[in-house]
Amino acid sequence: MFKFGFCDEEKGDLPGQDIDNASGTCGPNRPALQEHAILGPPVSTQESELVPLSLCGQKMLFLNGDLVMLRLQRQGMAGDLGRASEAHTDLIPDVYEGGMKLWECSRDLVTFLSAGEPLEGRHVLELGCGAALPAVFCLLRGAASVTVQDYNREVIDHLTVPNLRLNVPESRLAGCRALSGDWAALADRLRAEPGRPRAHLVLTSETIYRRASWPRLLDAVDAGLADGGTALVAAKTFYFGVGGGTRAFEQAVLEDGRFSSEVVFSTKQGLHREILRLVRTT
Ligand SMILES: C[S@@+](CC[C@H](N)C(=O)[O-])C[C@H]1O[C@@H](n2cnc3c(N)ncnc32)[C@H](O)[C@@H]1O
Repeated sequence: MFKFGFCDEEKGDLPGQDIDNASGTCGPNRPALQEHAILGPPVSTQESELVPLSLCGQKMLFLNGDLVMLRLQRQGMAGDLGRASEAHTDLIPDVYEGGMKLWECSRDLVTFLSAGEPLEGRHVLELGCGAALPAVFCLLRGAASVTVQDYNREVIDHLTVPNLRLNVPESRLAGCRALSGDWAALADRLRAEPGRPRAHLVLTSETIYRRASWPRLLDAVDAGLADGGTALVAAKTFYFGVGGGTRAFEQAVLEDGRFSSEVVFSTKQGLHREILRLVRTT
């Protein structure tokens, strides 16, 4: 049975135990929003950390996040990620949220996008991007720009941005943007920038495992999505040991009222996974 290795520090639980953290948040310590440079000196990666990935006819090259994590620890640069690694957990709520791993629903998103979703000329926002596989794919298939966001700055600097640069020519990255920080802070920032184009397409994969963060995630979608745009939420139908999943999220979307949702992709190969399409109700 799949479940997150999930560490609830407040309760003193050990990673890997079953925890429904539906009401728990650690708000005061959330990181502020930070903008990261995408272009600059050549990316310093090690050959052994590179993994070729061929998906939907697209050849790409991605960093192995586990190996990057080990390197950062050796160099004393792992920050909050080191705490998760030492505790052998994929997640510490509001500290490290799993961005160094490439999760399977991001592949589902690419499969879905490649089957006809219009990408040419689109502005794309990927929330909780981690390795940013869907964002990279969108750029390779003609998207005008991507904005990528992750909770942890170490993920953006040492995984997300290198992955963009490994796959996409510099000239195509000039209009792109990389941000770290919590979704609440991101929503505030995007709303404070009315002149910037909003995204035609908001993507997010494996980000609805924890109910407590859904209002912040929906706020970020609302702030980032252009009128007439669409958001695709790829996730498992149920996250054992954590409590989130697509069925419960659909209900939360309904109660929130800003979006309607429909299932546009479903697979039962392995764990049951889906993609929800969200559009504005007004
Ligand atoms: C399980 S990982 C999935 C990573 C990637 N999307 C994938 O599918 O491979 C969850 C992602 O959501 C982000 N995340 C979770 N909670 C967040 C929050 N409150 N604010 C911003 N990002 C958050 C994490 O940083 C992490 O990258």
